[in-house]
Amino acid sequence: MIETDLKTKFLGQNTEYFKTVDSTNNIAKKNLQKPHGTVFVADIQTSGRGRTGKSWFSDNEDGLWMSILLKPKRDLRNIEALTPVVGLAVLRALKNISSLQFSIKWPNDIVLNSKKICGILCEGVFIQESRSIICGIGINLNQTSFDKSIAEIATSLKKETGLTYNKKKLMHELLNELELLYIDFSENGLKNILQEYKQNCITLGKEIKICQNGKESTAFAYDLTENCELLVDMDGQKKVVFSGDVSVRGIYDYV
Ligand code: BTN
Repeated sequence: MIETDLKTKFLGQNTEYFKTVDSTNNIAKKNLQKPHGTVFVADIQTSGRGRTGKSWFSDNEDGLWMSILLKPKRDLRNIEALTPVVGLAVLRALKNISSLQFSIKWPNDIVLNSKKICGILCEGVFIQESRSIICGIGINLNQTSFDKSIAEIATSLKKETGLTYNKKKLMHELLNELELLYIDFSENGLKNILQEYKQNCITLGKEIKICQNGKESTAFAYDLTENCELLVDMDGQKKVVFSGDVSVRGIYDYV
């Protein structure tokens, strides 16, 4: 039984499965009364959402489409501080189920062979005193082809290996890893997490394109701040890039 793979105390202890939804993030938003750590997972999303207002191709059963409802006790300075934690958990989980070389494209795309295999959309919901964070995670597992609009930049585990992967196994690995990282993050912030993130971050040491509000600029990415913001050199000036609505790409290709 795959159920035994889940070793968590709170993440995924309440999991709700759906055949078809518009977006698991939307379902989570409508279920804020559910316990901390509740997971919403769907076979198919008809209106999957990505960062910066993009859509996320997920109208198929080949990927893991899930959202985690978190109700942090500690004052999280911002949602952005949590996204690298989730990114690192996905990276660890993918490494656990395969022996492939994944990396993180800042802020939190997971990349395999220079193509995107996972995207993360964390959204905060603030109602009066209560704060919830919804972490939506999309991982391409068993697709053999992609819509032509993303075919150049997207990949799946199956495309890279020819093997078929078990979604539930990956979900449980991810929840196990995320719970460990989340507890550390809740107690210590990013202090213990940043080094592993940096070691796996493919953006550092690269010339990149930064796109924000329809404007594009180039810069050299040289480090991260203690809050995981990107430090860049732009025409000889040091600048901090906040993940919010920014999209970052290599100057020649996706990474
Ligand atoms: C991105 O890289 O742009 C983020 C993509 C996030 C996709 C996931 S799939 C599950 C959850 N539901 C959504 O509608 N989006 C996230």
